[in-house]
Amino acid sequence: MGWNQYKIATYFYLNKSLSEIVPTKVIIFADLMSDFDFFDALAPHWDASETESTPEKVAEMLQRMGVERGMSVLDLGTGTGVLLAEIARRVGPEGKIVAIDGSAGMLAIAREKVRGLLPAPEFLQLDFEQQSVEGRFDRVLLYCVYPHLHEPVATLRRLVSDNLTPSGSVMIAFPTDANFIDAIHAQRHADSDRCPTPGELAADLAEAGFKTRVLADEEHAYIVEVR
Ligand SMILES: C[S@@+](CC[C@H](N)C(=O)[O-])C[C@H]1O[C@@H](n2cnc3c(N)ncnc32)[C@H](O)[C@@H]1O
Repeated sequence: MGWNQYKIATYFYLNKSLSEIVPTKVIIFADLMSDFDFFDALAPHWDASETESTPEKVAEMLQRMGVERGMSVLDLGTGTGVLLAEIARRVGPEGKIVAIDGSAGMLAIAREKVRGLLPAPEFLQLDFEQQSVEGRFDRVLLYCVYPHLHEPVATLRRLVSDNLTPSGSVMIAFPTDANFIDAIHAQRHADSDRCPTPGELAADLAEAGFKTRVLADEEHAYIVEVR
């Protein structure tokens, strides 16, 4: 899918003013850092930059992704845990949440944020493209994460076969549209392919053998369901 080179640009689709917050050296040296070192460096600045994922927006997105009471939810690339409080509210105490990230810095903030939350998310620090995840889930969320995958099709195949309940699905989602991401790339002169629209992504993945459905294709909502 060729999205891997836009590591830097990705940080600007959430908030155009992030460059004012993140130290310049983090941006300049991003290409020399491992993915997770890069996110460790961004972690302290992340929540201040997360203006698209307001609590209202997160609530709307999770509702549209069908996160409901009693469900088990795997939040892949949870970052600072922007989704976790609302996932917990929706699944209720009988639900289950597993939150994974490869960045220790991001996870440290997430852990602090959800202190006392019920159900308590189980946090795991691992690279979910390299290591398998145990358990089956009703929803596997890739929220603002899909562009970072190095082997998206292989990773999705493993998630679909090993980590979904029979009626479960993977959700590839953003609180923006593809045009917004492209505009940010152009602004930053990022070396990246054009971000596919939800329809294009669903078609590409269907061609790769997945069952796909576009659940949102709007200015402020991008959701593709994959099974
Ligand atoms: C753009 S941030 C999004 C974080 C959060 N979902 C949000 O919307 O605020 C992407 C996150 O995914 C994590 N990530 C990317 N690829 C990963 C992988 N293969 N394994 C574990 N974490 C990964 C990064 O460390 C980072 O915290």
